[in-house]
Amino acid sequence: MSDHNDLEAFLDEAWRHLNRGAADSSSPARYPTFATVSPEGKPQARTVALRGASRPNSILEVHTDIATDKVTALEHTPIAAFHIWLPRANLQIRLSASVAILTGDCVDAQWAKVPPSSRVSYGTLPAPGHPIVDVYDYEKPSDRDRFAVLKCTVKEIDLVHLGKRHRRALFIAEDNWVGSWLAP
Ligand SMILES: Cc1cc2nc3c(=O)[nH]c(=O)nc-3n(C[C@H](O)[C@H](O)[C@H](O)COP(=O)(O)O)c2cc1C
Repeated sequence: MSDHNDLEAFLDEAWRHLNRGAADSSSPARYPTFATVSPEGKPQARTVALRGASRPNSILEVHTDIATDKVTALEHTPIAAFHIWLPRANLQIRLSASVAILTGDCVDAQWAKVPPSSRVSYGTLPAPGHPIVDVYDYEKPSDRDRFAVLKCTVKEIDLVHLGKRHRRALFIAEDNWVGSWLAP
């Protein structure tokens, strides 16, 4: 039985889920909600696929089309929040991160791994969010130049575990991820 008072074990559990999410499309951590702030200051949330997770570097990776609103938002305000609910583990993971938008040659390695059938996610015409007259009035060519990797450097992690007695903890990069308990 794990020690419920162990902050390090709590954080280990969260990263286990994040790593699994990046590796396994059947994990509930595969599809976080990803929130940004629009240039007008409005919150915007949407589902994304978690494509990479590195605990040693505190990095999460998301792939996107540079023509989407989230990229406009991130160019303006380069921070984002992730939200993941893991029903079987009864665990909520919330993260905040600073985000770098990577395009061009430096994302060749990631592009090479995108299967041909998925490459059409990058290049929709007209651009995502554009009004169209008929429901299918769009095309999905694959456009390598629209492929972007959002490199998210994690700054804070807030965990809530629902149990007989709930547990909540906050971990901050600047504090070297030591963590502290919070009232849930
Ligand atoms: C299960 C699922 C996974 C998705 N994965 C991604 C993704 O990895 N990257 C992405 O840009 N959009 C992804 N989307 C689409 C976004 O949720 C969103 O509709 C689209 O990116 C436009 O968002 P925006 O206009 O807020 O930028 C996914 C949607 C669903 C339902």
